[in-house]
Amino acid sequence: MGEALLAKYMGKKKVIAETGAGQHGVALATAAAYFGLECDIYMGSVDIKKQAPNVARMKILGANVIEVTEGLATLKEAVDAAFAAYSRNYKDCIYCIGSVVGPHPFPMMVRDFQSVVGIEAREQFIEMTGELPDAVVACVGGGSNAAGFFSGFLNDPVDIYGIEPLGRGTDLGDHAASLKYGTEGVMHGFNSIMLKDENGDPAPVYSIASGLDYPSSGPEHAFLHDLGRVKYDVVNDDDTINAFFELSRMEGIIPAIESSHAVAYGIKLAKEMGKGSVLINLSGRGDKDMDYIIEKYGIR
Ligand SMILES: Cc1ncc(COP(=O)(O)O)c(C=O)c1O
Repeated sequence: MGEALLAKYMGKKKVIAETGAGQHGVALATAAAYFGLECDIYMGSVDIKKQAPNVARMKILGANVIEVTEGLATLKEAVDAAFAAYSRNYKDCIYCIGSVVGPHPFPMMVRDFQSVVGIEAREQFIEMTGELPDAVVACVGGGSNAAGFFSGFLNDPVDIYGIEPLGRGTDLGDHAASLKYGTEGVMHGFNSIMLKDENGDPAPVYSIASGLDYPSSGPEHAFLHDLGRVKYDVVNDDDTINAFFELSRMEGIIPAIESSHAVAYGIKLAKEMGKGSVLINLSGRGDKDMDYIIEKYGIR
């Protein structure tokens, strides 16, 4: 909504974006329908197959879903394609980027739009419990849900955890834990910590979660990492799938596979802490992931 309002304000006719899991694509397609804007969404062919319900939603909402087949055909290539489209038509359209990545002011803008989640979560938590949480946890792909959520708590005496996908293991190519295992580098117009190949280019990465399958995270995360204000840690595929089922059964909430990384870490952290409170950001719902999980893992 924030990005579409900005497009309207700037007199643009069209919004474009990339999407990994399809969540940002659906959100932007919804806003575009509401504000009467054209909408092009770039999405890798791997993710188009994996996240079919969101592809259907975007199409029903009137967006054009443009398949990206280059490279690994996942999120990084979708961002490449969206930037290329934006540079061809920057007068009539605006790139409503889906995370806190890209050149300034994109990371800051996206963080500020997402910060409503952090502000409201803080208010609601205090209303419900009378105090601040001891720890907050969010998953980190490009880092937008985490950046927005964390911004509500950065000045509080609260431990903050950003959780990256460890995927199949620690070998390069088996995970997308850029802040944990990466080094300084530049891609998509921003300087941050990233996973690089032997030539210094963004490395091929893997995550079970389409939305976390990205070789870097936004520059503010690199800053918070270096400051030590946020602890970045990892969760593998197996623990993520277990957390997906556990939250569904314990609370009746089916979490997105991205968010399930944060849930898995929250469960582990709660056990370690013994007492106190952990607030987890559920960045999305898991309807989009149900077919994929049942096909690949069955019911656990
Ligand atoms: C539900 C959900 N959570 C998290 C993410 C990761 O993005 P970010 O790290 O920018 O929040 C995505 C991306 O598609 C997502 O769909």
